[in-house]
Order: sequence, then structure tokens, then C-alpha cells
Amino acid sequence: ALPIPFEGKHQAGIVTPAQDRLYFAALDLTTESRGDLILLLKEWTEAARKMTQGNDVGEFGAVAGSPFAPPEDTGEALGLPPSGLTITIGFGRGMFVDGKGKPRFGLDGKLPDRLKDLPLFSGDRLDDALCGGDLAIQACANDPQVAVHAVRNLVRIAFGRASVRYSQMGFGRTSSTSSAQVTARNMLGFKDGTANIKAEDAKDLDDFVWVPKGDGPDWMVNGSYLVTRKIDMRIEIWDREPLEGQEAIIGRTKGSGGPLSGGDEFDKLDFKAKGEDGELAIGKVAHVRLAHPDFNKGAKILRRGYNFVDGSNGLGQLSAGLFFIAYQRDPEKQFVQIQRNLAGKLNDVLNEYIVHVGSGLFACPPGVTTEGYWGEKLF
Ligand code: HEM
Repeated sequence: ALPIPFEGKHQAGIVTPAQDRLYFAALDLTTESRGDLILLLKEWTEAARKMTQGNDVGEFGAVAGSPFAPPEDTGEALGLPPSGLTITIGFGRGMFVDGKGKPRFGLDGKLPDRLKDLPLFSGDRLDDALCGGDLAIQACANDPQVAVHAVRNLVRIAFGRASVRYSQMGFGRTSSTSSAQVTARNMLGFKDGTANIKAEDAKDLDDFVWVPKGDGPDWMVNGSYLVTRKIDMRIEIWDREPLEGQEAIIGRTKGSGGPLSGGDEFDKLDFKAKGEDGELAIGKVAHVRLAHPDFNKGAKILRRGYNFVDGSNGLGQLSAGLFFIAYQRDPEKQFVQIQRNLAGKLNDVLNEYIVHVGSGLFACPPGVTTEGYWGEKLF
């Protein structure tokens, strides 16, 4: 397979058909120098340009340099194909202002209004060590080694300027972002991504994903806002729920993924339809009802999450869940609106089986030109 182009109007890794693997990292900037930040973004862009095309980092790469110096590339991707690698970066609020709201890096006036901290939702059990970050790197590839290699090398380049706050491996995409892809399953065993925005839905991408002119600062035009949520699942409890109960919680069948109101996977959800018992086929608190645009002032998001298993906890339970990723033009009107509904008065029944433990919001700048670098319009 051909490598995925790195340059373009938008960053790759958003509408790119979701690859199988994720390695995500959030970093804190440890420098206060504007020059350092600019240089870091330039060096990252250069390295990403090479790695996404299947090349080593640096002029001499992993093995062609001086035997007396550490190699420029760490080497574990030597001989591997590019594997659909995309590297997408985002800027956290902390890059623009410090804890007291004072501008950092001379970025006065550049902070988008939309990059404000996400509110706390009911049921959140956020761990500070899994939240925030000044910079985000989302590396996706069909080979986990390639994704890890990408993040590892960017982190290495950042040494002395930024350090990792947290990182997350994901092993199975839970969303399709192209209608050419089959819908994958999440750790609850359900197809996930059926009603997602797809790369083919040009109008939805303009309405819901890409930042247009006039929507906040100019440097974000053609960019998008990234929300990440690390969501733990109480897998063992879920596994004891009868099939019928599991399906009622989601609002779709487990086999085909078709709506409980009838039909196949891609048929429309009918929220008024009643079952043989006279009750609503898709219940009042079913996940797909509460998350649907009809109940969220029309809001849609582009989901691009991954399954994770971080081993098991001391009780022998799987530390598994969904690393939720969503792209959108306006987090308040989209993710926040939907999540408030899911965690709100009606309380999505799914919440008995999941708990949000990590959270992030990042402004992802537009794509880069052949000569350009990530975020250049900021400086
Ligand atoms: C739909 C699972 C969290 C937003 C779905 C579907 C499943 C699912 C199985 C149906 C298939 C589909 O259309 O993709 C989960 C699980 C979650 C989770 C297991 C947590 C572990 C969230 C969160 C949000 C969200 C946090 C956003 C705040 C949506 C949306 C839909 C959806 C917008 C499509 C609804 C529609 O228009 O039909 N989810 N989800 N989900 N989910 Fe989730």
C-alpha cells in the first residue's frame, strides 16, 4: 500500500480511513522559549514528513550515521512499510496560557475561545495524570510498531523542550471513517462507528468537522478540535448482562448492528417505533437515542476511537475500555452537548458499565504545505 500523503489542506489522520492501531501521547512543554517551540514544531514536521513516507528520521537515519554518535532514528521501524502511518498534532490550552491565564510563548490573542477546559460531567472520575497536555500526538498505523516508533522519535526530538504527560496504546479501531470500511467492534462486542461521519460525507465534514473562516482565529481555518476521553469499562459486569439487556442499553442488535426498531445495520433509527410489548423499541435511555443528533440540537461528531487493554488490575479484572477520540468544529456545541445528554438527567444506562478517567481537548491546526510546518500561522 502507498504511504498516506503528509501534506494537504487538512492534517492526515482525521478523515483518513481509520487505521487499526493507535499510539497517542500528550506532552507538557518544559521550555518557556518561543524560539524553542518554533524549532520543535519545525523539527517535528520534518520528522513526521519522513516517517509517514516510510523513511528514517534525520539525514542519516538509524544506521548510516557516525558510529560515535547515537543514531538519529531509533531503528525499530527499519524494514517495515509505512503501514498507513499518519501523525496528527494538536495544541492544548496550556500552550497558550499558563495556570493563571498569562500568555505563554508570546501567543497573546491566539488562544481560540473554543479551547476552553471541558466541564466536569456527572459520573466523571478523572485522574489528573491522564488529563490535559500542552501538545498532543496522535499516531495511527496498521502496525503498532510503526505507531510507537513515530511517537517515540517525536518524544526523543522534544527532549529538553517537552516531556510526556501520559500516553495510550490502542489496538482496534472502534470507528469507521470511510464507507469503504467494515464497521469494527468495541470491547462491549458491539459494532461501533455505524452512524459516524464518513470521509465521503462532504457536507457533514464542512458542517461539523473543519473550522471555516470566521469561526475563531484565522490560524485554525481548516483545522479541527480534538476531544479525547479515556473510558474504562467494567467488563466483567457487562459480561454478566443478558444479551437482550446489552442490546437495550445500546439500542442496536449485537449481531448485525441493526437498530432495535428494525432493519439492517445502516437503516435509519426509528425512535417512535414500538416493540411487541408496546414499549419503545429504542428505549428512552438507550445510548444511540441519547447520542443521536435529533436529541442534541443536530450535533454530530467524527468519532475515531480505539479499544485498549492495559493489562489487568490486581483483582484479575481486565483494565480495558475505549480511548474515545472525536473531531469537531465546536466542542461546546458538539462533544459537550452530546456528553451532557449522555451523562445527564436521563442517564445513559451505559454509564453503569463505563467510567471516564482521562480527558483532553486540543486545537489541531490545518495541514502543512511542502515547505511549511505545523502551526506556522501562529508565529
Ligand atoms: C453510537 C458505543 C461513548 C457518541 C454508538 C454505538 C455504539 C457505541 C455501540 C452504535 C453504533 C454507531 O452508530 O456507532 C459506545 C461506547 C462508549 C461510547 C462503548 C463508551 C465506552 C460515547 C461518547 C460519545 C458517544 C462519550 C460522545 C459524547 C456516540 C454517537 C453515536 C454513538 C454520536 C451515534 C448515534 C447515532 O447518531 O445513531 N456508541 N459509545 N459515544 N455514540 Fe457511543
